[in-house]
Amino acid sequence: MVLMAFHAVAQNTTIPGGPTFRDFLRFSCSELNIQRIDPLVTPGLVPSPHLHQFVGGNALASTMDPSLNISEKATCTTCTFSEDFSNYWTAVLFFKHRNGSYHRVPLMGNLGLEGQRGGMTVYYTAPYDKKTKVTAFKPGFRMLIGDPSYRAPSPNPNEFKSIAFRCFTTPWGPAPANSEIGGPWDTREFPSTPCPYGLRVNNFFPTCWDGVNVDSPDHKGHVAYPVEGTFEGGGRCPDSHPVKLPQVLYETIWNTSAFNDPSMWPTDGSQPFVFSTDDRTGYSWHGDYLFGWKGDALQRAMDNYCGVDCPVLEKQSVEKANECAKAPVVDEQVDGWLGALPGQ
Ligand SMILES: *[C@@H]1O[C@H](CO)[C@@H](O)[C@H](O)[C@H]1NC(C)=O
Ligand SMILES: *[C@@H]1O[C@H](CO)[C@@H](O)[C@H](O)[C@H]1NC(C)=O
Ligand SMILES: *[C@@H]1O[C@H](CO)[C@@H](O)[C@H](O)[C@H]1NC(C)=O
Ligand SMILES: *[C@@H]1O[C@H](CO)[C@@H](O)[C@H](O)[C@H]1NC(C)=O
Repeated sequence: MVLMAFHAVAQNTTIPGGPTFRDFLRFSCSELNIQRIDPLVTPGLVPSPHLHQFVGGNALASTMDPSLNISEKATCTTCTFSEDFSNYWTAVLFFKHRNGSYHRVPLMGNLGLEGQRGGMTVYYTAPYDKKTKVTAFKPGFRMLIGDPSYRAPSPNPNEFKSIAFRCFTTPWGPAPANSEIGGPWDTREFPSTPCPYGLRVNNFFPTCWDGVNVDSPDHKGHVAYPVEGTFEGGGRCPDSHPVKLPQVLYETIWNTSAFNDPSMWPTDGSQPFVFSTDDRTGYSWHGDYLFGWKGDALQRAMDNYCGVDCPVLEKQSVEKANECAKAPVVDEQVDGWLGALPGQ
């Protein structure tokens, strides 16, 4: 499986023949809130076991039944494609000071998307041949990548290959702009040295669907990765999951610059970053997806093989997207120096 990074393809350092901004939707979704709920894995449980960072539509709630009409309920979204009321969420990154205190690491905007307020970059890709059709997600669809309990590589090799960290030792580098994710410059666990220009994690969701179920007990069984080739190259889906979906990718980037001072790092030489799951390996990274595009907007974009500029979709300014937010239902401190991770 060849997974490409798309974060900097506008620069001159692109690989000839590599993906360009014409090959995928790529947009910012700013922070909606940061709190301990999980409408997919622990619906109704308030607070949920660990902290998540949420972006997308403000229909977000601790319980979101598949029958909920999300685009009707939501009144704003933090995404710049304004018909996208989906919710996207992940684990939260903390820095553990050698004195034992924790501090949440702030998120930062991506290259070309610097104006966003926290949050992440979201991609939807159709195969690069601009011929292969994908079927947009159905109302109520949701899925999960990764597992908060992992402290070692995922037992699913495809899932393992679909998550990687990059430590930015130069602005958006050191690797070429549209370089393969998971190459020699990437790690599958937290990097062991400071990342002066930030830390990024990518997660690519499965792209094959069983065609029937909008969810499954583990939130994974209704989807699968291609059995051969790559999604981008039109790789074949398994017979059990024959329907090609758009490829959803989250790019989450932290501004680590306040935490690079070695005098704050552990004295034993270990690395100081920890996920909200109380995981210091990095393997518990997980991303949750709850589809919420209005009407046929996503299908329209995929049928038109939209790039970053997508005239068939409605847009809003990043300033407008930044204004959308929702007060957390769990009222607890998540910022500043903390004595313990929330819920841990
Ligand atoms: C990229 O290449 C073009 C054409 O060669 C040049 O005009 C432009 O200045 C370059 N941009 C950067 C950021 O190097
Ligand atoms: C959601 O509500 C909108 C507006 O009322 C309607 O057009 C759409 O068909 C509804 N979607 C579903 C899946 O019920
Ligand atoms: C750890 O260091 C931070 C930053 O100097 C400080 O604010 C915090 O109170 C310290 N924690 C403890 C337990 O001393
Ligand atoms: C990163 O954080 C530092 C403070 O530690 C701040 O000065 C800088 O502007 C931030 N950079 C971005 C891109 O947010």
